[in-house]
Amino acid sequence: MRKNIVAGNWKMNLNRTEGIALVEDVLAKLPTDNNTHVVFAPSFVYLHKVAKMCANTSKVAAAAQDCSSNEKGAFTGEISANMIASCNARYVVLGHSERRANFKESNELLKTKVGQAFTNNLKVIFCCGESLVQRESGVHFDWINTQISESLFHLSSEEFKNIVIAYEPIWAIGTGVTASTDQAQEIHAFIRNILVDQYGLEVALSTSILYGGSCKPSNAKELFASQDIDGGLIGGASLNSDDFIAITQSF
Ligand code: PGA
Repeated sequence: MRKNIVAGNWKMNLNRTEGIALVEDVLAKLPTDNNTHVVFAPSFVYLHKVAKMCANTSKVAAAAQDCSSNEKGAFTGEISANMIASCNARYVVLGHSERRANFKESNELLKTKVGQAFTNNLKVIFCCGESLVQRESGVHFDWINTQISESLFHLSSEEFKNIVIAYEPIWAIGTGVTASTDQAQEIHAFIRNILVDQYGLEVALSTSILYGGSCKPSNAKELFASQDIDGGLIGGASLNSDDFIAITQSF
């Protein structure tokens, strides 16, 4: 009923030549019967090129890693949601913990970015997740609930169908430490329950909830076998085509 999605978040990695070679390789090796939706989130600089490479395949799409909270104007260096949509990207990743930490992105700001994305018909991969300190002090459920509700719960049920949630515990990102399947499933089920409360069962059951944080071929199968884990947002392992393809085949 809901989509399985494997999204590669390249972050600030791969130059144009390397990025194009990776997409070519993945597209060439991706089995035709692969029922998983695949998303590449490259740098803005060649988003257009990657989107074009994905154009012939409905199950493969390009995503931006961020968008501006402003529509347009005197914001030197910023990239608007409209510019992203005009490059034929179909998704934008919002609220990644690196952006929350490095650029002080608040739930309120992200709400505005979600608005810009939706005005331009982009689907949103919305990231949430707790730090180790938060988990150890037991506030992680409340924290995640607040991240999701403050940035997303103004949306109507119809609008929410264009949201993908990515649960990414900060302590697992780029560290090699993956959340155990039980830890991840517990949070995914929690997230789905708050979606049931806000939007009802139909929307909650049709929302894809991805796991991110040191997800790789060796652990993807077990993670994706969980009831509420519908795929992954992959950093490091998305930079290698064989690893990335292996993850797409882990359902
Ligand atoms: P990682 O990154 O797979 O390298 O841990 C995931 C992410 O930050 O999206």
